[in-house]
Amino acid sequence: MAMTSPRELFVHELADAMSAEHIILGMLPELAKEARHPELKQAFKDHEAETKQQIEQLQEVFKLLGEEPEDTTCHAAEGLKKEHEALHEEEPTPEVLELGNVGGAAKTEHYEIATYTTLVQMAKDLGERDVARLLKANLDQEKAMGKRLQGLAKELGKATKEQATATA
Ligand SMILES: [Fe+2]
Ligand SMILES: [Fe+2]
Repeated sequence: MAMTSPRELFVHELADAMSAEHIILGMLPELAKEARHPELKQAFKDHEAETKQQIEQLQEVFKLLGEEPEDTTCHAAEGLKKEHEALHEEEPTPEVLELGNVGGAAKTEHYEIATYTTLVQMAKDLGERDVARLLKANLDQEKAMGKRLQGLAKELGKATKEQATATA
């Protein structure tokens, strides 16, 4: 059936976000396991709990809209997952894998930030204030995780710097 209204697009994009969250939820335990830095490990664990909340928030959104999420796959999140698998194929050392995972996780957060920024705007445009509020809560969690990862990337980067100066 042809998609003819912004509301249909909104509901479709929400289902896509729901799929993305499920894919990411599946990845986070492995990322926590592969993290060596205790703060990074904790960040992934915390974000796993947050992601579960985000899925609940999305379920609430669908309820408020009186809609059912269509069965769809977020190809972007699938792609990010494949990137992680591709990194594994390079047989990185645990240190290098951890560094790669921080970068991959940062990409994921930026994708989610873009997703929820758009969804919050669409909800507002459609006059769905309560829905916008729920989506904004997810957006804020993604932004916070993005910042946390940025700080940890700097922290991990120190080891890279030290190694570079030692071999220079
Ligand atoms: Fe998320
Ligand atoms: Fe996230």
